[in-house]
Amino acid sequence: MSPVAPRAAQTARSSSAGKRPSHYLSVADLTPEEILSLLDRARELKRFPARDANKLSGLTAGLVFQKPSLRTRVSFEVAMLELGGHAVYLSPAEIQLGQREGVVDVARVLSRYVDVIVARVFLHSDVAGLAEHATVPVINALSDREHPCQILADLLTLYERRGALNGLRLAYVGDGNNVAHSLALAAPPLGIDLRFACPDGYEPDPLIMEQAQAGVNSGAIELFRDPKEAVRDADAVYTDAWYSMGQESEAEARAPIFHRYQLNAQLLSEAAPNAIAMHCLPAHRNAEITDEVMDGPASVVYDQAENRLHVQKALLLRLLGQD
Ligand code: CP
Ligand code: NVA
Repeated sequence: MSPVAPRAAQTARSSSAGKRPSHYLSVADLTPEEILSLLDRARELKRFPARDANKLSGLTAGLVFQKPSLRTRVSFEVAMLELGGHAVYLSPAEIQLGQREGVVDVARVLSRYVDVIVARVFLHSDVAGLAEHATVPVINALSDREHPCQILADLLTLYERRGALNGLRLAYVGDGNNVAHSLALAAPPLGIDLRFACPDGYEPDPLIMEQAQAGVNSGAIELFRDPKEAVRDADAVYTDAWYSMGQESEAEARAPIFHRYQLNAQLLSEAAPNAIAMHCLPAHRNAEITDEVMDGPASVVYDQAENRLHVQKALLLRLLGQD
């Protein structure tokens, strides 16, 4: 292989010049058929991890992170490594997006070095801005609006545990945050019946709910106040932190408001027999989810974490035109 222009790098970086690259900023960027096909590919990658060991040879991912991460950073780095490529992690202190340098210049400069940008940002407009100005694909690794990579892993986990997605009933209890938004946009078009229970004032963004309602297929989307009602007969119960990264100063004020939305054994007992308990992690143990549930037989939280690796491999291969 030439040291100047590795085969795969030439394909990806130069082929994106002059035409708009595909991005993954929202789960709505993928059709339900594309999601199902990515999940199939992820299952194959999980089963036969060595088969695609050189697919991304010579390709580099730039990981632009404004917030901390365990799962997202490590799973993207390992995904690139196991597919034969590289990842360059850029911590919040390095790029200082919008402070040391604006989004436009970061996007243009990074596009000259790397083949895909994976960005975790505070403001969704920043990851959208990177996508607008980059000439390589941009992946949203979490913004205030969505966490679309997480939801692919969650769908794979649901599929593995239930053997199908169409017809499932999924309850989400807690804060109507980025994870809730991505679930709202992804699940109903796949035929999943999605029920939210959120405290007053902490519901998902109404505009996203409107967009989600428009995408409803055979599934439905409903908003409840009472967590028990939302959870009744659910096949899976999902929760996330009561306050997200950047909202730490609200933690104390939110605790009493969210208290009755805790995913504990009693709430889980309202769900269908053998219902699974889901959390994207990191969890605040014994706040939004009890130790008993998280460490109990219903918990699939570590499968969700592992599946980040497999779905992101499928996503990277797709966006880089190497699948
Ligand atoms: N679930 C998730 O995105 O975890 P990290 O914040 O650790 O990446
Ligand atoms: N809603 C959480 C998800 C963390 C993976 C946050 O944004 O901090």
